[in-house]
Amino acid sequence: SRQWRGVIREYADRLDVTDATPVVTLGEGGTPLLPAPALSRRTGADVWVKFEGMNPTGSFKDRGMTMAVTKAVERGAEVVICASTGNTSASAAAYATHAGIKAAVLVPEGKIAMGKLSQAIAHDAQLIQVQGNFDDCLDIARDLAEHFPVHLVNSVNNDRIEGQKTAAFEVVEVLGDAPDFHFIPVGNAGNYTAYTRGYREDIAAGNATKLPRMFGFQAAGSAPLVRGEPVKDPETVASAIRIGNPASWQLALEARDLTDGYFGAIDDERILLAQRILSAEVGVFVEPASAISVAGLLDRAEAGQIPAGSKVVLTVTGHGLKDPQWALRLPDGSDVAPTVVPVDTAHVAEVLGLGA
Ligand code: F0G
Repeated sequence: SRQWRGVIREYADRLDVTDATPVVTLGEGGTPLLPAPALSRRTGADVWVKFEGMNPTGSFKDRGMTMAVTKAVERGAEVVICASTGNTSASAAAYATHAGIKAAVLVPEGKIAMGKLSQAIAHDAQLIQVQGNFDDCLDIARDLAEHFPVHLVNSVNNDRIEGQKTAAFEVVEVLGDAPDFHFIPVGNAGNYTAYTRGYREDIAAGNATKLPRMFGFQAAGSAPLVRGEPVKDPETVASAIRIGNPASWQLALEARDLTDGYFGAIDDERILLAQRILSAEVGVFVEPASAISVAGLLDRAEAGQIPAGSKVVLTVTGHGLKDPQWALRLPDGSDVAPTVVPVDTAHVAEVLGLGA
């Protein structure tokens, strides 16, 4: 058996690389596509979960970052820069340090999850907390990349989208064709754009016969694509997608029109309920932003939009350990109180309701 070689080497013939390209990889991609019987039962569809939390830094960003940092190094960059709600900064930090270059990351002060903040620091990035939101951070990052010798690795960089399209290739390889529906969280809409590109290329390559309908979801307090205008002060527990002015807005609309797709909004309560359903009924723990794929499916199934037996893929974008605090509160709002016992087997048996 051989080791998975990361998305650039696995898909070299479908990416802009040559034998001379200095591949920077941490073994990203090759993530599980898992059947989710509990969600199939709830919806009548045939539901599969693409678990992107299994990437090296715990999110789908690694697929794009291997490509973005590889191309940066190929072009001689010594510093990469990004704005981030947390996952992009964790990924940029890891890949830059692996490549022996520097990463500078701009994050909204106090608004990114502790796990992600820890990753950026652990991987030795220069971390700058901006007193503003993600959209402000991206404005500054773009400004800096325009005027200084720093290489931008946000998803406005096409190399990111190229790397991320490989997730669609993996889905098609497992299912034998594209699914009928693909549900995905939307922040900047880079990943929504990337999957659409991947599926299109799979049709052109003869690997798939159809495009899935691309269903993208934003948090209700942060849903510019649904409202049709930027949101000035976006708010949501799903901090990864707390974005008011998506960078790939136009590409996202084109992808939606091309795939007969849909953009929907989900409130925070239903995001957290979906997170709980996925962790407690399927066994997959994701961060709140990722759970919006599940919430979106439940919402659209309830609306009667998903015919029985439809093949449905949900991308869950980031690992639950990134931002674990939400799991400690149950959907009814109560905090989880751990059961404490003395060192006594009979006592534990009684608490567990075992025996007579
Ligand atoms: N899910 C997670 C866990 C994310 O971190 C992001 C984006 C998205 C979904 C949305 O993807 O932007 O391509 O539509 N996170 C970025 C970041 C903004 O900085 O980590 P998108």
